[in-house]
Amino acid sequence: MFSSVNSLARMAIAIATTIAAGSALAQSGEVNVYTYRESKLVQPLFDAFSKDTGIKVNVISASSGLEQRIKSEGEHSPADVLLTVDIGRLEDAIRAGISQPIASPTLDKMVAPQYRDPEGHWYAISMRARVIYASKERVTQNAITYDELADPKWKGKICIRSGQHMYNNALFAAYIAKHGEAKAESWLRGLKANLAQKPSGGDRETARDVAAGKCDLGIGNTYYWALMNNGGPNQKPWADATRVILPTFEGGGTHVNVSGVVLAKHAPNKANAMTLIEWLVGEKAQHMYADMNYEYPLRAGIAVNPTIAGYGTLNPDPLPLAKIADNKKKAANLVDKVGFDN
Ligand SMILES: [Fe+2]
Repeated sequence: MFSSVNSLARMAIAIATTIAAGSALAQSGEVNVYTYRESKLVQPLFDAFSKDTGIKVNVISASSGLEQRIKSEGEHSPADVLLTVDIGRLEDAIRAGISQPIASPTLDKMVAPQYRDPEGHWYAISMRARVIYASKERVTQNAITYDELADPKWKGKICIRSGQHMYNNALFAAYIAKHGEAKAESWLRGLKANLAQKPSGGDRETARDVAAGKCDLGIGNTYYWALMNNGGPNQKPWADATRVILPTFEGGGTHVNVSGVVLAKHAPNKANAMTLIEWLVGEKAQHMYADMNYEYPLRAGIAVNPTIAGYGTLNPDPLPLAKIADNKKKAANLVDKVGFDN
């Protein structure tokens, strides 16, 4: 008697499990994404995802403070996924304690170890490189190292945005990780001494200033040049006046940063969040990153956009991004120490 009650209970559990699995297969429901990315960049991705899976994506966009918001929402936070650019921001999210490890053999297969957190708290989904916009008119060389940016031959010829901006912070942190703080300091002093003007503007403005003859080398991310080149009449001349050189570290490759994802600690729609995260490294999404955002696909075997391919073959620095994140604070301190932004 006792055992037949027990088996009835087991049967009930089995039925409930089947129903749960059935509803998961139907992929109904929604997923809540908090993002720092511009909605015009990510909305087409989410639309395609919803079309493929039937899962609705609710987007909360902001330019700052999302980690704090998720933290203050606590256990009741609706956040499922945080989507952001930059290794620094991904690490900030982990340090804020708002993440949980992502366990996915699919992602582990698609995303190389250097582009994910060793504990699984973040995964990169696309890449960008920090490169040189060189004057077509005044720069003849086709190759350059990051070290050479400190060579006095470039005195008064380099334009760059603030040394405290996250893109430069990651580049400087990578330099520290490779060469140590002392060498990084003298390199940064050399680069500072070569600046044509006080660090200012964004990456596109460095190309604008090269085009205007204020400097010969601008430092910027790969996708901005493609956006200028394929953009409107205002910015096209900035791309026309420059060409992209992929710089390299001594004995290493080109500095890359990423966009990536974090699974929120209290994600109410965890299964849908995992579906979304895995979808983002799928072929369709990776092609969209390549052709709509001009980013490098993270996944091997996806073609880069022809404009980006025109820069030459990217050989990404093999340094794990987690090592760059470890040196973020030191890089920020060094920028202050050498008065880089003054
Ligand atoms: Fe950007």
